Amino acid sequence: MIKEVTAQELNTDRFINEKIKEIKGAVGDGMAINALSGGVDSSTVTMLGHRALGNRLKTVFIENGLMREGEPEQVADFFRKLGVTVEVVDARKEFYSVLKGITDPEEKREAITQAFYQNVFGRIVKESGAKYLLQGTILTDVDETVAGIKRQHNVFEQLGIDPQEAFGYRIIEPLIQLRKDGVRKVGKALGFPAELFERIPFPGPALSARVIGEVTRERIETVRKATVVVERLLKDTGAFQYLAILHEDRVTGMRDGKRDFGQQIEVRCWESVDARIATPTRLSFEILEKLASEIIREVPGIVSVTYNIAPKPPSTIEAV
Ligand code: XMP
Repeated sequence: MIKEVTAQELNTDRFINEKIKEIKGAVGDGMAINALSGGVDSSTVTMLGHRALGNRLKTVFIENGLMREGEPEQVADFFRKLGVTVEVVDARKEFYSVLKGITDPEEKREAITQAFYQNVFGRIVKESGAKYLLQGTILTDVDETVAGIKRQHNVFEQLGIDPQEAFGYRIIEPLIQLRKDGVRKVGKALGFPAELFERIPFPGPALSARVIGEVTRERIETVRKATVVVERLLKDTGAFQYLAILHEDRVTGMRDGKRDFGQQIEVRCWESVDARIATPTRLSFEILEKLASEIIREVPGIVSVTYNIAPKPPSTIEAV
């Protein structure tokens, strides 16, 4: 059982010092590696690891081809300015090849897990000689995985999987007792600017969690373009999270006076504190209409835009 530390009871300075000590103690004078995605969790872990280990922590950004527009460059730049060297590793081919032909949500998550931990990380860790992987698993990830709701890509020990045996390295998880609101507090205390620790959550499987059906380069490009519009139009709502989902079903539409059997984008926008329960934001019809017209204009092939009005549960925040 993992003991939860709520955001209210969290003493950030003490927490940071304790975690730095724990990381130092575990890694000793060896090397550790971590994957930075730019989200709040992995950014916070990067900074804790950097403070604990300095340049004995190798931070990589895995370019899996599933990230949002411009994300790899922006994240690497941001951390370079904070003195953390980030190596961008191009693994696009590996991810697209494991995702080929898969439509089942859990199989998709499993394929990403394998590509990430076994193929890509297995290789990077071996090459570097590191024995530890530092990662930003939080308590909500563990809860949902153990409950069998969604297999979060980063949960192993609670499922009886020994990472040392399975992948050849140990995993250190400094944020495992926290939920999102606690991690944000730690991020703030570490000196991150608001635009980072207040970033909306983004899932580990990235845009592939937002493509229903097969994940291909073309379909990721479609959901990526829709994501640009959704994030631009909803960033001032103060909502917990907002996203675009590409559906698999096609619907009849019309374009330039001709029938167009086109694709559908679903928009979701959530009010939530810690992602365990969530309700759709009551967006004005004006914003909804703007979302529809801009998505249709800027994303090729889309003829239908819908807004999700079902709460979690029974919905979940992501669609896959
Ligand atoms: P769901 O879709 O389960 O999402 O309601 C709850 C929160 O977790 C994020 N999420 C993930 N985060 N790995 C992650 O690191 C994952 O596999 C994953 N799946 C969902 C989601 O964006 C939401 O904030």
